[in-house]
Amino acid sequence: MPISRTLLIVIIAIIVIAAVGGGLAYYYTQQRKPQKIVIYVIGKGVHPYWDVVAAGVERAEQEIKQKFGVDIDAEFWTPTKEEAALQFSQVDALIAQKITGLALAPVDAEAAVTYINKAIQQGIITITFDTDAPGSNRPIYIGTDNYKAGYLGGLAAYTLAKQKGYVKVGATLKVGIVSATLAAQNARERVQGFMDAIKKCAEVDPDIKGNINIQFIGPYEDKGDVSAAVSYALSILQAHPDLHIAFGSNAYEGPAWTQALKQLNYPPGKVVLVQFDVTSDNVPPAWEGYALVTIGQRQYFMGYYAVWLIYNATKLGSIEQAIKQFMPQWPQVKAYDTGVDLVAKERLELTAPTGEKIVIKSLSEYKREMQGLGVDPKLLGLENIP
Ligand code: BGC
Repeated sequence: MPISRTLLIVIIAIIVIAAVGGGLAYYYTQQRKPQKIVIYVIGKGVHPYWDVVAAGVERAEQEIKQKFGVDIDAEFWTPTKEEAALQFSQVDALIAQKITGLALAPVDAEAAVTYINKAIQQGIITITFDTDAPGSNRPIYIGTDNYKAGYLGGLAAYTLAKQKGYVKVGATLKVGIVSATLAAQNARERVQGFMDAIKKCAEVDPDIKGNINIQFIGPYEDKGDVSAAVSYALSILQAHPDLHIAFGSNAYEGPAWTQALKQLNYPPGKVVLVQFDVTSDNVPPAWEGYALVTIGQRQYFMGYYAVWLIYNATKLGSIEQAIKQFMPQWPQVKAYDTGVDLVAKERLELTAPTGEKIVIKSLSEYKREMQGLGVDPKLLGLENIP
């Protein structure tokens, strides 16, 4: 029986309606399906320092999953070398993947601006941590106030050098500095803070009144290369056997200075060595008495807060809202200082000529404190400290 024209039109209409309806239903369910939250935390290089950040990232991810039952993947990624280009290719790949959020520790503060701004422009919540890129559109930096930390190290160095009799009217105070690339905001600020503090102490010290010649040897930039750091430390010590103060801006430089001091048979404590970070590499120089001051950062919390903040931004609908909850003084202040602790083998309290009180905690005390904050001492290389 031939199908009438009307029936044919009705059949075609039903097919079209079903197809369109089905298509729309599929589209809307896909739209409503909660998107997986993907957050990347990008470090600068390979060092036990970064393992601690990774642990903080992991803890935040677990907490968020448990608390809110959301589908979240928080990843820590770091290049094999402290090279900006390696970070940038990863950032580009993540922009293409349209991830949710990104926390970057830029090796090069200026060069990173383009990439940070590009990620933000593509709708990726992007912040900095550990080291900042203040020229970018990042809404916040989470990490150490690096100038302040370097300054504190400088106050301690001057005060200890004075106790050792190295600070005398008319004398020359020799300060050797080995740093990572000064393109990194954190290294740059730490070195500046350290030098400024020493100059300030000499100026205000009533016993000296500026009558001392401060000789800065360096900063020499090892560019993240540990063997270059050791070579610089060795050549500084060979050229200046009477070096009074030694400083390294980054985690691997304290051990590099220590290696050089040992190789040249310096007894522990002869040179006032100030190093950064409490890690499995840095605890031995402190415990053996080579590093008289260790500036412990709280990088575990940098990773932890970065992930929580980005997650909260997705929940609240904007990063601005999330930051305001986290830090009410934003946007007047765009940096969240995670703080530092000064640590040494034994506890020591000093008063710098500037009047500032400096508390240096013992490694044991610091270990207990970190345990109290939920950070596994083993992560910090403190497991064998009593
Ligand atoms: C710095 C990091 C750096 C690490 C190893 C730390 O002190 O905060 O930015 O990557 O040292 O160089």
